[in-house]
Amino acid sequence: MQRRQFVHSIPLSLVGALMSSQTFDEGSVSPSLMPKQYSTFVEWLNASRAAALQFVADSGAAHAERFMQFLALWVTAIPDPNEPTWQRIDGANKKLEFALISPGHPFVVTALRMEPGCILPAHCHPGGGGITLCIDGSLMIQHYDLVAGSAAFSETGAVAEVEEVSVTRLRKNQFTLFTPSRANLHQLQAGPDGAVAVDIVVQWAGAGEFSYLKLTDSTPASQAAMGRRHRGTWVGMDIARA
Ligand SMILES: [Fe+2]
Repeated sequence: MQRRQFVHSIPLSLVGALMSSQTFDEGSVSPSLMPKQYSTFVEWLNASRAAALQFVADSGAAHAERFMQFLALWVTAIPDPNEPTWQRIDGANKKLEFALISPGHPFVVTALRMEPGCILPAHCHPGGGGITLCIDGSLMIQHYDLVAGSAAFSETGAVAEVEEVSVTRLRKNQFTLFTPSRANLHQLQAGPDGAVAVDIVVQWAGAGEFSYLKLTDSTPASQAAMGRRHRGTWVGMDIARA
């Protein structure tokens, strides 16, 4: 795997199973699928996977928003994972590392370690949903929606317009969430002490292809107005071009 492709390029064999699920059930989540307390990450992982698979079997996962809400519930109970094996992602402004913590179904767990001030530039997750949980240090995450009518991410070199939908400062145990249709682009920036973040990623469609969007009118988030539109250029999967 090319390091710079990291999480987005992990092939997931999810589409068939998720898309063929039963019609979404609007009913409440069974108490048996609610998280409990876990003393180790592995204990949590086994329980959360079992619950997520049961959720899919019971209700389907075609309703991405609902499925991500379910995973967010589980993220509130996650213990820190053991120190993973980090791989450097070359091309970022500061040291940036990626780790695959747990591949699998119906979600993949990965992590990012960022030096102070490190930026993971704006990028999309087509067909994907995810939760970014800060477990050390702090980071700022700006989420964006692609404006209707904009060029698709696969059109490298094309200009696209995005609308900023949230600016969030995360410390330990805080997280943000995106779905295939909501806040699907984001940019991460580590705080003054750096950051370690865990990602819980689900892929509904596609094989994890993505693109960075090089923002051409970016302003620091501290000065940005919520809801502001930005223009950028799709530059493909090479972070050095973003
Ligand atoms: Fe991302």
